[in-house]
Amino acid sequence: MLRGTFELIGDKSISHRAIMLSSISKGNNKISNFLMGQDCLSTVNCFRKMGVDIDIRDKEVFVKGKGLRGLSVPDSILDVGNSGTTIRLMMGILAGQNFETTIIGDQSIGRRPMKRVTAPLRSMGAIINGKEDANYTPITIKGGNLTSIDYYMPISSAQVKSSLILASLYGNDTSIIHEKNKSRNHTEIMLKSFGADIEVNDLDIKINPIEELYNRDIYVPGDISSAAFIIVGALITKGSEVLIRNVGLNDTRVGIIDVIRKMNGDIEIVEEYEICGEKVGNLLVKYSPNLIGTTIDKDIIPRLIDEIPIIAVLATQAEGDTIIKDAAELKVKESNRIKSVVDNLNNIGATVIELEDGMIIKGKSKLQGGKILTYDDHRIAMAFSIANLICEKNILLDSDKSIDISFPGYFNLLKELSK
Ligand code: S3P
Repeated sequence: MLRGTFELIGDKSISHRAIMLSSISKGNNKISNFLMGQDCLSTVNCFRKMGVDIDIRDKEVFVKGKGLRGLSVPDSILDVGNSGTTIRLMMGILAGQNFETTIIGDQSIGRRPMKRVTAPLRSMGAIINGKEDANYTPITIKGGNLTSIDYYMPISSAQVKSSLILASLYGNDTSIIHEKNKSRNHTEIMLKSFGADIEVNDLDIKINPIEELYNRDIYVPGDISSAAFIIVGALITKGSEVLIRNVGLNDTRVGIIDVIRKMNGDIEIVEEYEICGEKVGNLLVKYSPNLIGTTIDKDIIPRLIDEIPIIAVLATQAEGDTIIKDAAELKVKESNRIKSVVDNLNNIGATVIELEDGMIIKGKSKLQGGKILTYDDHRIAMAFSIANLICEKNILLDSDKSIDISFPGYFNLLKELSK
Protein backbone atom coordinates (compact mmCIF):
# COMPACT_ATOMS: atom_id res chain seq x y z
CA MET A 1 0.00 0.00 0.00
CA LEU A 2 1.03 3.63 -0.46
CA ARG A 3 0.75 5.98 2.51
CA GLY A 4 2.10 9.44 3.25
CA THR A 5 2.31 13.05 2.14
CA PHE A 6 4.66 14.53 -0.41
CA GLU A 7 5.40 17.69 -2.36
CA LEU A 8 5.07 17.15 -6.12
CA ILE A 9 7.93 17.92 -8.54
CA GLY A 10 7.49 20.72 -11.09
CA ASP A 11 5.36 20.44 -14.22
CA LYS A 12 7.25 19.42 -17.35
CA SER A 13 5.16 21.46 -19.82
CA ILE A 14 5.35 24.60 -17.69
CA SER A 15 9.09 24.18 -17.01
CA HIS A 16 9.84 24.08 -20.77
CA ARG A 17 7.76 27.19 -21.37
CA ALA A 18 9.36 29.01 -18.44
CA ILE A 19 12.85 28.54 -19.92
CA MET A 20 11.73 29.50 -23.43
CA LEU A 21 9.78 32.63 -22.52
CA SER A 22 12.43 33.79 -20.03
CA SER A 23 15.11 33.34 -22.70
CA ILE A 24 13.29 35.58 -25.19
CA SER A 25 12.21 38.14 -22.60
CA LYS A 26 14.22 41.29 -21.88
CA GLY A 27 15.89 41.09 -18.44
CA ASN A 28 16.42 38.73 -15.52
CA ASN A 29 14.01 35.94 -14.63
CA LYS A 30 13.86 33.46 -11.76
CA ILE A 31 12.09 30.11 -12.15
CA SER A 32 11.23 28.24 -8.92
CA ASN A 33 10.32 24.55 -8.58
CA PHE A 34 11.73 23.92 -12.06
CA LEU A 35 11.60 20.26 -13.15
CA MET A 36 15.15 18.93 -13.40
CA GLY A 37 14.07 16.12 -15.74
CA GLN A 38 16.12 15.32 -18.84
CA ASP A 39 13.52 16.80 -21.21
CA CYS A 40 13.57 20.21 -19.54
CA LEU A 41 17.36 20.11 -19.33
CA SER A 42 17.38 19.58 -23.12
CA THR A 43 15.49 22.86 -23.44
CA VAL A 44 18.02 24.54 -21.12
CA ASN A 45 20.92 23.23 -23.24
CA CYS A 46 19.39 24.39 -26.52
CA PHE A 47 18.84 27.94 -25.25
CA ARG A 48 22.31 28.05 -23.66
CA LYS A 49 23.70 27.17 -27.09
CA MET A 50 21.86 30.20 -28.44
CA GLY A 51 23.72 32.46 -26.03
CA VAL A 52 21.27 32.58 -23.11
CA ASP A 53 22.86 32.69 -19.65
CA ILE A 54 20.97 30.05 -17.62
CA ASP A 55 22.19 29.36 -14.11
CA ILE A 56 20.76 26.37 -12.26
CA ARG A 57 20.97 26.45 -8.45
CA ASP A 58 19.14 23.61 -6.73
CA LYS A 59 15.48 23.82 -7.86
CA GLU A 60 15.83 27.45 -8.94
CA VAL A 61 16.86 28.62 -12.36
CA PHE A 62 18.09 32.11 -13.20
CA VAL A 63 17.70 33.16 -16.82
CA LYS A 64 19.10 36.34 -18.36
CA GLY A 65 16.69 36.98 -21.21
CA LYS A 66 18.16 38.13 -24.55
CA GLY A 67 15.01 39.71 -25.91
CA LEU A 68 12.69 38.54 -28.66
CA ARG A 69 15.31 38.88 -31.40
CA GLY A 70 18.46 38.56 -29.32
CA LEU A 71 19.27 34.83 -29.57
CA SER A 72 22.59 34.09 -31.22
CA VAL A 73 23.54 31.53 -33.86
CA PRO A 74 24.44 28.27 -32.08
CA ASP A 75 27.93 27.02 -32.94
CA SER A 76 26.66 23.44 -33.22
CA ILE A 77 23.49 21.46 -33.91
CA LEU A 78 20.69 21.79 -31.31
CA ASP A 79 19.92 18.40 -29.74
CA VAL A 80 16.46 18.08 -28.15
CA GLY A 81 17.06 14.53 -26.86
CA ASN A 82 13.69 12.83 -26.28
CA SER A 83 11.68 16.03 -26.00
CA GLY A 84 8.84 16.69 -28.44
CA THR A 85 7.87 19.84 -26.58
CA THR A 86 11.39 21.27 -26.95
CA ILE A 87 11.60 20.73 -30.70
CA ARG A 88 8.08 21.81 -31.61
CA LEU A 89 7.89 24.92 -29.43
CA MET A 90 11.47 25.94 -30.16
CA MET A 91 10.78 25.81 -33.91
CA GLY A 92 8.12 28.49 -33.36
CA ILE A 93 10.76 30.74 -31.79
CA LEU A 94 13.43 29.87 -34.36
CA ALA A 95 11.01 30.76 -37.15
CA GLY A 96 11.31 34.33 -35.89
CA GLN A 97 15.14 34.41 -35.71
CA ASN A 98 17.19 35.72 -38.55
CA PHE A 99 19.64 32.79 -38.70
CA GLU A 100 19.79 29.14 -39.68
CA THR A 101 19.75 26.29 -37.13
CA THR A 102 19.79 22.51 -37.41
CA ILE A 103 17.86 20.44 -34.87
CA ILE A 104 18.21 16.76 -34.04
CA GLY A 105 16.93 14.47 -31.29
CA ASP A 106 17.09 10.84 -30.18
CA GLN A 107 15.69 7.81 -32.07
CA SER A 108 12.17 8.37 -30.73
CA ILE A 109 12.17 12.02 -31.87
CA GLY A 110 13.39 10.79 -35.26
CA ARG A 111 10.15 8.84 -35.64
CA ARG A 112 7.77 11.62 -34.52
CA PRO A 113 5.95 13.75 -37.13
CA MET A 114 7.03 17.38 -37.38
CA LYS A 115 5.07 18.37 -40.49
CA ARG A 116 2.22 19.46 -38.20
CA VAL A 117 4.50 22.32 -37.13
CA THR A 118 6.82 22.81 -40.10
CA ALA A 119 3.96 23.15 -42.64
CA PRO A 120 2.19 26.09 -40.93
CA LEU A 121 5.53 27.71 -40.00
CA ARG A 122 6.55 27.51 -43.67
CA SER A 123 3.31 29.20 -44.63
CA MET A 124 4.32 32.06 -42.30
CA GLY A 125 7.58 32.43 -44.25
CA ALA A 126 10.12 30.29 -42.37
CA ILE A 127 12.47 28.29 -44.59
CA ILE A 128 12.49 24.73 -43.30
CA ASN A 129 14.16 21.62 -44.68
CA GLY A 130 14.33 18.09 -43.36
CA LYS A 131 13.72 14.42 -44.01
CA GLU A 132 10.53 13.62 -45.96
CA ASP A 133 9.68 17.23 -46.67
CA ALA A 134 10.56 18.41 -43.15
CA ASN A 135 8.43 15.79 -41.40
CA TYR A 136 11.35 14.19 -39.57
CA THR A 137 14.62 15.25 -37.96
CA PRO A 138 17.25 16.40 -38.70
CA ILE A 139 15.47 19.64 -39.52
CA THR A 140 17.08 22.89 -40.61
CA ILE A 141 15.19 26.10 -40.03
CA LYS A 142 15.93 29.65 -41.15
CA GLY A 143 13.63 32.30 -39.81
CA GLY A 144 13.19 35.96 -40.36
CA ASN A 145 10.36 38.14 -41.48
CA LEU A 146 7.21 36.21 -40.77
CA THR A 147 3.72 36.97 -41.96
CA SER A 148 0.76 36.46 -39.65
CA ILE A 149 -1.39 33.32 -39.85
CA ASP A 150 -5.08 32.43 -39.59
CA TYR A 151 -4.95 28.71 -38.91
CA TYR A 152 -7.56 26.02 -38.25
CA MET A 153 -5.70 23.21 -36.49
CA PRO A 154 -6.39 19.79 -38.05
CA ILE A 155 -5.44 17.97 -34.81
CA SER A 156 -5.63 18.70 -31.08
CA SER A 157 -2.11 19.56 -30.04
CA ALA A 158 -0.79 22.00 -27.47
CA GLN A 159 2.65 21.67 -28.99
CA VAL A 160 1.48 22.78 -32.42
CA LYS A 161 -0.70 25.51 -30.97
CA SER A 162 2.14 26.82 -28.79
CA SER A 163 4.64 26.75 -31.63
CA LEU A 164 2.34 28.87 -33.80
CA ILE A 165 1.55 31.25 -30.94
CA LEU A 166 5.27 31.80 -30.38
CA ALA A 167 5.90 32.37 -34.10
CA SER A 168 2.99 34.82 -34.15
CA LEU A 169 4.92 37.10 -31.78
CA TYR A 170 7.16 37.73 -34.81
CA GLY A 171 4.35 38.12 -37.38
CA ASN A 172 3.58 41.28 -39.36
CA ASP A 173 -0.05 41.47 -38.22
CA THR A 174 -2.66 39.80 -35.99
CA SER A 175 -2.60 35.99 -36.09
CA ILE A 176 -5.52 33.76 -35.16
CA ILE A 177 -5.19 30.10 -34.24
CA HIS A 178 -8.36 28.03 -34.04
CA GLU A 179 -8.14 24.93 -31.86
CA LYS A 180 -10.06 21.74 -32.59
CA ASN A 181 -10.47 20.82 -28.93
CA LYS A 182 -9.14 22.65 -25.93
CA SER A 183 -5.58 21.50 -25.20
CA ARG A 184 -3.27 22.60 -22.38
CA ASN A 185 -3.09 26.40 -22.28
CA HIS A 186 0.11 27.07 -20.30
CA THR A 187 1.66 29.03 -23.18
CA GLU A 188 -1.29 31.40 -23.34
CA ILE A 189 -1.33 31.94 -19.55
CA MET A 190 2.40 32.47 -19.25
CA LEU A 191 2.72 34.68 -22.32
CA LYS A 192 0.06 37.00 -20.99
CA SER A 193 2.02 37.41 -17.77
CA PHE A 194 5.12 38.27 -19.84
CA GLY A 195 3.13 41.12 -21.40
CA ALA A 196 2.20 39.57 -24.75
CA ASP A 197 -0.85 40.85 -26.61
CA ILE A 198 -2.83 37.60 -26.59
CA GLU A 199 -6.56 37.10 -26.30
CA VAL A 200 -8.34 33.77 -25.90
CA ASN A 201 -11.95 33.30 -26.87
CA ASP A 202 -12.92 29.68 -26.25
CA LEU A 203 -11.14 27.80 -29.09
CA ASP A 204 -9.79 30.91 -30.84
CA ILE A 205 -6.49 32.52 -29.89
CA LYS A 206 -5.62 35.97 -31.22
CA ILE A 207 -2.02 37.20 -30.99
CA ASN A 208 -0.54 40.50 -32.04
CA PRO A 209 3.15 40.88 -32.77
CA ILE A 210 5.12 42.66 -30.07
CA GLU A 211 8.47 44.44 -29.71
CA GLU A 212 9.59 42.78 -26.46
CA LEU A 213 8.32 40.55 -23.61
CA TYR A 214 8.92 41.72 -20.02
CA ASN A 215 11.02 39.68 -17.63
CA ARG A 216 9.38 38.09 -14.57
CA ASP A 217 9.60 35.40 -11.90
CA ILE A 218 7.75 32.14 -12.36
CA TYR A 219 6.71 29.46 -9.90
CA VAL A 220 6.15 26.06 -11.56
CA PRO A 221 3.27 24.08 -10.01
CA GLY A 222 3.55 20.32 -9.58
CA ASP A 223 3.00 17.99 -12.54
CA ILE A 224 -0.35 16.17 -12.45
CA SER A 225 0.95 13.87 -15.20
CA SER A 226 3.64 12.66 -12.76
CA ALA A 227 1.24 12.59 -9.80
CA ALA A 228 -0.99 10.30 -11.90
CA PHE A 229 1.25 7.28 -11.25
CA ILE A 230 1.13 7.68 -7.48
CA ILE A 231 -2.60 8.46 -7.62
CA VAL A 232 -3.35 5.20 -9.45
CA GLY A 233 -0.97 3.28 -7.16
CA ALA A 234 -3.00 4.52 -4.18
CA LEU A 235 -6.38 3.79 -5.80
CA ILE A 236 -5.53 0.14 -6.52
CA THR A 237 -3.63 -0.97 -3.43
CA LYS A 238 -5.49 -1.92 -0.25
CA GLY A 239 -5.07 0.43 2.71
CA SER A 240 -3.57 3.32 0.71
CA GLU A 241 -4.00 6.98 1.56
CA VAL A 242 -1.79 9.64 0.00
CA LEU A 243 -1.84 13.43 0.23
CA ILE A 244 -0.12 15.09 -2.73
CA ARG A 245 0.75 18.74 -2.24
CA ASN A 246 1.21 21.37 -4.91
CA VAL A 247 -0.57 19.66 -7.82
CA GLY A 248 -1.18 21.77 -10.93
CA LEU A 249 -4.96 21.68 -11.47
CA ASN A 250 -5.33 23.67 -14.68
CA ASP A 251 -8.70 22.68 -16.22
CA THR A 252 -6.99 21.61 -19.44
CA ARG A 253 -4.94 19.00 -17.51
CA VAL A 254 -7.30 17.43 -15.00
CA GLY A 255 -9.19 15.00 -17.23
CA ILE A 256 -7.78 12.16 -15.12
CA ILE A 257 -9.56 13.48 -12.01
CA ASP A 258 -12.89 13.53 -13.88
CA VAL A 259 -12.30 9.96 -15.10
CA ILE A 260 -11.31 8.65 -11.66
CA ARG A 261 -14.50 10.12 -10.18
CA LYS A 262 -16.59 8.52 -12.94
CA MET A 263 -14.90 5.21 -12.14
CA ASN A 264 -15.85 5.50 -8.43
CA GLY A 265 -12.33 6.35 -7.33
CA ASP A 266 -11.83 8.20 -4.07
CA ILE A 267 -10.01 11.44 -4.96
CA GLU A 268 -10.56 14.78 -3.32
CA ILE A 269 -9.16 18.28 -3.87
CA VAL A 270 -8.58 19.41 -0.29
CA GLU A 271 -7.26 22.92 -0.93
CA GLU A 272 -7.13 25.05 -4.04
CA TYR A 273 -5.28 28.27 -4.82
CA GLU A 274 -3.71 30.10 -7.76
CA ILE A 275 -0.04 30.75 -8.57
CA CYS A 276 1.16 32.60 -11.67
CA GLY A 277 -2.28 32.27 -13.26
CA GLU A 278 -2.32 28.48 -12.79
CA LYS A 279 -4.75 26.63 -10.49
CA VAL A 280 -2.90 24.57 -7.88
CA GLY A 281 -4.10 22.39 -5.01
CA ASN A 282 -3.59 19.39 -2.75
CA LEU A 283 -5.04 16.01 -3.62
CA LEU A 284 -6.12 13.31 -1.19
CA VAL A 285 -6.38 9.84 -2.72
CA LYS A 286 -7.55 6.65 -1.04
CA TYR A 287 -7.78 2.97 -1.93
CA SER A 288 -10.95 2.41 -3.96
CA PRO A 289 -12.18 -1.18 -4.03
CA ASN A 290 -15.34 -0.56 -6.10
CA LEU A 291 -13.97 0.85 -9.35
CA ILE A 292 -16.15 0.60 -12.46
CA GLY A 293 -15.32 0.87 -16.15
CA THR A 294 -16.06 4.00 -18.19
CA THR A 295 -15.80 5.50 -21.67
CA ILE A 296 -13.06 8.04 -22.39
CA ASP A 297 -13.38 9.85 -25.71
CA LYS A 298 -13.86 13.13 -27.62
CA ASP A 299 -13.08 16.41 -25.83
CA ILE A 300 -11.59 14.88 -22.72
CA ILE A 301 -8.76 13.16 -24.63
CA PRO A 302 -6.41 16.18 -24.85
CA ARG A 303 -7.06 16.83 -21.13
CA LEU A 304 -5.55 13.45 -20.19
CA ILE A 305 -3.54 12.37 -23.22
CA ASP A 306 -0.34 11.66 -21.25
CA GLU A 307 -2.22 9.79 -18.52
CA ILE A 308 -3.74 7.11 -20.79
CA PRO A 309 -1.08 4.45 -20.08
CA ILE A 310 -1.65 4.68 -16.32
CA ILE A 311 -5.43 5.02 -16.72
CA ALA A 312 -5.30 1.75 -18.69
CA VAL A 313 -3.57 0.08 -15.73
CA LEU A 314 -6.28 1.49 -13.44
CA ALA A 315 -9.00 0.16 -15.77
CA THR A 316 -7.72 -3.42 -15.37
CA GLN A 317 -8.91 -3.14 -11.74
CA ALA A 318 -12.37 -1.79 -12.59
CA GLU A 319 -15.46 -3.92 -13.01
CA GLY A 320 -16.64 -3.99 -16.66
CA ASP A 321 -15.26 -2.47 -19.86
CA THR A 322 -13.29 0.74 -20.14
CA ILE A 323 -13.38 2.08 -23.68
CA ILE A 324 -10.74 4.57 -24.80
CA LYS A 325 -11.25 6.07 -28.28
CA ASP A 326 -10.50 9.22 -30.33
CA ALA A 327 -6.92 8.87 -29.09
CA ALA A 328 -5.00 8.07 -32.31
CA GLU A 329 -2.42 10.70 -31.23
CA LEU A 330 -1.12 8.08 -28.80
CA LYS A 331 0.56 6.38 -31.75
CA VAL A 332 2.98 9.28 -32.22
CA LYS A 333 4.05 9.85 -28.63
CA GLU A 334 7.45 8.80 -27.20
CA SER A 335 6.41 5.29 -28.28
CA ASN A 336 3.29 4.02 -30.03
CA ARG A 337 1.37 4.07 -26.76
CA ILE A 338 -1.61 2.13 -28.08
CA LYS A 339 0.63 -0.81 -28.92
CA SER A 340 2.97 -0.45 -25.95
CA VAL A 341 0.07 -0.38 -23.49
CA VAL A 342 -2.09 -3.08 -25.13
CA ASP A 343 0.70 -5.63 -25.74
CA ASN A 344 2.30 -5.21 -22.32
CA LEU A 345 -1.02 -5.37 -20.45
CA ASN A 346 -2.06 -8.51 -22.33
CA ASN A 347 1.35 -10.04 -21.58
CA ILE A 348 0.89 -9.63 -17.83
CA GLY A 349 -2.58 -11.14 -17.70
CA ALA A 350 -5.04 -8.34 -18.53
CA THR A 351 -7.58 -8.58 -21.36
CA VAL A 352 -7.24 -5.62 -23.70
CA ILE A 353 -8.46 -5.19 -27.27
CA GLU A 354 -6.50 -2.86 -29.52
CA LEU A 355 -8.49 -0.27 -31.51
CA GLU A 356 -7.34 1.97 -34.34
CA ASP A 357 -7.71 5.01 -32.06
CA GLY A 358 -7.58 3.54 -28.57
CA MET A 359 -8.34 0.30 -26.71
CA ILE A 360 -10.95 -1.61 -24.72
CA ILE A 361 -9.85 -2.87 -21.32
CA LYS A 362 -11.93 -5.72 -19.95
CA GLY A 363 -11.96 -5.65 -16.16
CA LYS A 364 -11.43 -6.82 -13.66
CA SER A 365 -8.23 -8.87 -14.07
CA LYS A 366 -5.80 -10.50 -11.75
CA LEU A 367 -2.45 -9.32 -13.10
CA GLN A 368 0.30 -11.93 -13.22
CA GLY A 369 3.49 -9.95 -13.85
CA GLY A 370 6.27 -10.61 -16.35
CA LYS A 371 8.61 -8.84 -18.72
CA ILE A 372 7.74 -5.36 -19.99
CA LEU A 373 9.08 -3.72 -23.15
CA THR A 374 9.18 -0.01 -22.31
CA TYR A 375 10.46 1.21 -25.71
CA ASP A 376 12.42 3.71 -23.59
CA ASP A 377 9.15 5.53 -22.95
CA HIS A 378 9.11 7.08 -19.46
CA ARG A 379 5.34 6.87 -19.05
CA ILE A 380 5.25 3.19 -20.05
CA ALA A 381 8.01 2.39 -17.54
CA MET A 382 6.20 4.19 -14.69
CA ALA A 383 2.75 2.82 -15.59
CA PHE A 384 4.02 -0.76 -15.35
CA SER A 385 6.03 -0.09 -12.20
CA ILE A 386 2.64 0.76 -10.66
CA ALA A 387 1.06 -2.39 -12.10
CA ASN A 388 3.86 -4.22 -10.26
CA LEU A 389 2.26 -3.21 -6.94
CA ILE A 390 -0.66 -5.58 -7.59
CA CYS A 391 0.92 -8.37 -9.66
CA GLU A 392 1.18 -11.98 -8.42
CA LYS A 393 4.80 -12.14 -9.57
CA ASN A 394 7.20 -9.30 -10.29
CA ILE A 395 7.15 -7.00 -13.30
CA LEU A 396 10.52 -6.80 -15.00
CA LEU A 397 11.09 -3.56 -16.95
CA ASP A 398 13.60 -3.94 -19.80
CA SER A 399 14.98 -0.57 -18.72
CA ASP A 400 13.97 2.15 -16.29
CA LYS A 401 16.45 4.80 -17.41
CA SER A 402 13.75 6.72 -19.33
CA ILE A 403 12.01 7.68 -16.08
CA ASP A 404 14.53 10.52 -15.57
CA ILE A 405 12.96 12.21 -18.61
CA SER A 406 10.05 13.45 -16.50
CA PHE A 407 10.34 12.13 -12.94
CA PRO A 408 13.80 12.18 -11.37
CA GLY A 409 13.65 10.53 -7.92
CA TYR A 410 10.57 8.48 -8.84
CA PHE A 411 11.67 5.15 -7.34
CA ASN A 412 12.87 6.81 -4.12
CA LEU A 413 9.48 8.44 -3.69
CA LEU A 414 7.67 5.17 -4.42
CA LYS A 415 9.86 3.44 -1.83
CA GLU A 416 9.17 6.15 0.77
CA LEU A 417 5.42 5.84 0.26
CA SER A 418 5.35 2.01 0.18
CA LYS A 419 4.24 0.57 3.50
C1 S3P B 1 2.72 18.83 -24.36
C2 S3P B 1 1.64 18.56 -25.15
C3 S3P B 1 1.14 17.21 -25.43
C4 S3P B 1 1.70 16.18 -24.46
C5 S3P B 1 3.17 16.37 -24.25
C6 S3P B 1 3.47 17.74 -23.69
C7 S3P B 1 3.13 20.23 -24.15
O1 S3P B 1 1.50 16.86 -26.75
O2 S3P B 1 1.45 14.89 -24.92
O3 S3P B 1 3.66 15.40 -23.34
O4 S3P B 1 3.94 20.50 -23.25
O5 S3P B 1 2.65 21.09 -24.90
P1 S3P B 1 0.61 17.28 -28.02
O6 S3P B 1 0.39 18.70 -27.91
O7 S3P B 1 1.42 16.90 -29.22
O8 S3P B 1 -0.63 16.46 -27.90
